[in-house]
Amino acid sequence: HSIPVIAIDGPTASGKGTIAGRVARELGYNYLDSGAIYRVLAVAALAHGLFPESESDLRKLDALAASLPVEFRADRIYLGGKDVTESIRSEEAGTMASRLAVIPSLRGHLLQRQRDFRRGSGLVADGRDMGSVVFPDAALKVFLTASAQTRAERRHRQLIERGESADLAVILADLQARDKRDTERAVAPLKPCEGAHVLDCSDMSIDEVVNTVKAWYLKA
Ligand code: C5P
Repeated sequence: HSIPVIAIDGPTASGKGTIAGRVARELGYNYLDSGAIYRVLAVAALAHGLFPESESDLRKLDALAASLPVEFRADRIYLGGKDVTESIRSEEAGTMASRLAVIPSLRGHLLQRQRDFRRGSGLVADGRDMGSVVFPDAALKVFLTASAQTRAERRHRQLIERGESADLAVILADLQARDKRDTERAVAPLKPCEGAHVLDCSDMSIDEVVNTVKAWYLKA
């Protein structure tokens, strides 16, 4: 494939969205926030009252994922024409996304949709399985991580800044539960893939992380 990909995977709130977005902007590349696609599916599932634990709902979820009317336009995200940019960021949507993400057939339906972002001069993609499953031929694979405490503190600060109420202990517990689900699932579990550069950014600034990733890419 002639269009290069930088794959940035890692746990929730590791800062990969911020880093991937910045690297994409600085290189003039496209950006894929793959978690947003899972979150849009989650918002659609919640709106339809569908739950993955029910056999008959699961069939409907498959159909929903196969034809998910999601659109990314000018930094906004739409589901069936409705702007869901903010609502997909709720804790409820995140938790549902991670429950849906354990189901192989649903992941399969979302595969091509993610690969469609590979256009123009290049792509920076962030998620859990960008380097392992979606773009195994990525030019650079990064596994960006930070301690659970650091990630919980960041998420806590974000929520406070947004004027939402937030309890650090609850956030930490939720984050650890989500890590566990993402790490232990049978399909596309969260772990550094073959060939990934592991970067623990607990004590790094955003600039330092962006520059490290760009330097690796230029050497790759
Ligand atoms: O990254 P974000 O927190 O937005 O992702 C929400 C959930 O979607 C994750 O907890 C994970 O379960 C799932 N996900 C995934 N594979 C991806 C991106 C997200 O399984 N590539």
